Amino acid sequence: MQYKTIIEPFRIKTVEPIKHTTREERVAALEEAGYNLFLLKAEDVLIDLLTDSGTGAMSSAQWAGMMLGDESYAGAKSFYKFETAVRNITGFKHVIPTHQGRAAERILFGAALKPGDIVPNNTHFDTTRANTEYRGATALDIPIPEGRNPAAILPFKGNIDLEALERTLTENPGKVPMVMITITNNSGGGQPVSMANIRAASEICHRHAIPFFIDACRFAENSYFIKLREEGYADKTPLEIAQEIFSYADGCTMSAKKDGMANIGGFLALNDDALAQECKNMLILTEGFPTYGGLAGYDLEAIAVGLEEVLHEDYLEYRLRSVAYLGDILTKAGVPIVQPPGGHAIYIDAKGMLPHIPQSEYPAWALSLVLYLEGGVRGVEIGSVMFGQQPDGSEKPSAMELVRLAFPRRVYTQSHVDYLAEVILHVNDIKDQIRGVKMVESPPMLRHFSAKLAPAHGTMLTSK
Ligand code: F0G
Repeated sequence: MQYKTIIEPFRIKTVEPIKHTTREERVAALEEAGYNLFLLKAEDVLIDLLTDSGTGAMSSAQWAGMMLGDESYAGAKSFYKFETAVRNITGFKHVIPTHQGRAAERILFGAALKPGDIVPNNTHFDTTRANTEYRGATALDIPIPEGRNPAAILPFKGNIDLEALERTLTENPGKVPMVMITITNNSGGGQPVSMANIRAASEICHRHAIPFFIDACRFAENSYFIKLREEGYADKTPLEIAQEIFSYADGCTMSAKKDGMANIGGFLALNDDALAQECKNMLILTEGFPTYGGLAGYDLEAIAVGLEEVLHEDYLEYRLRSVAYLGDILTKAGVPIVQPPGGHAIYIDAKGMLPHIPQSEYPAWALSLVLYLEGGVRGVEIGSVMFGQQPDGSEKPSAMELVRLAFPRRVYTQSHVDYLAEVILHVNDIKDQIRGVKMVESPPMLRHFSAKLAPAHGTMLTSK
């Protein structure tokens, strides 16, 4: 008998209580947090879908591995285990641990970018964009056009626009020091990139003698999408697919807080000897010696085990299915979401859901606040608050207004998701009552993390 229910491929050994709050408590918490969900106390959140980064549950094998952590300053055993795990998947010659993904970005961009440069990417995530702009370079997003249309259903909606890439490289000789592809495309809805697209982008870059890097945060989810959706990969293991992906690249940046299954950590891995040496010198300046890079030996152990576990097929099947399960319920009820559901999150299309709120009143931010108000659920806005602020201080509405509900790995069960669906459907029922928000206090960069906002019309919800 082939049973159809896809179950969580684990049982729970340790539990962490979560706390219900009253609506009144949430009203007060929001006000105290300046209408910014990043500024809430996490204990006031019932279901926390702010991010899938560092929020996963580690396995018993990872915890056991941590007890083996070698805390030697240099040459620790744990580093070599970590290096072997990374090299087995990526094949890159130099493996440089960092405390998280953005540290890898800062170090790589510090060595490779200069003011006036252009870095094309299918879509930069916020820290990648900020680290590029911080170097005085331009972060150029060139997803395929369908990638910006939430309703379009494509198997590989995260692909980079190959024509735009070719054009950019031809028109800007000497100005493009590297090209990046983000797998999966986080800001574009957690959508996968196909092997064919990665191969073709690599070929274009190398024809122009430009290094090709992968932002690999969710490489395992992307590999499994390739297995399910791309011809010729059904019989390959996720590991074999990941190995092929990295074989086309010259290096990668990685946040081990995602598909490293760890609570902290990351790495930069690359083949170029001279660039690696420069990066290692920078690493020593701010992160630590190259065999620990800002991590404890036990973190390196947890990541080494996590990188192996994340490629298990039963895990990946469960992972993609739990996100699609919520996607199916919302789609059936007519809630507009980025289609098809991505690997790590559901993205509600706030522009589609709240056409009465202009982008200048941040519809996705408002929707994220109301989800918290009505159900204690915390998502994150990926819209004009996150991306509207330009390096010169001006404001430009972002292409999409999304609320991302990111699933921490191995944390929530199906009943949590059923509750979540109930909250979203209720909010969808009262969507006409939702009102926009305005900016009250805004820092000069990465403003979404600390900005203060307020209801633009005195209230978040009008009465019926
Ligand atoms: N690249 C991508 C595609 C990411 O999604 C992230 C982090 C980073 C780089 C940076 O990694 O956090 O370890 O420094 N994304 C998290 C998120 C924060 O919520 O999507 P980091």
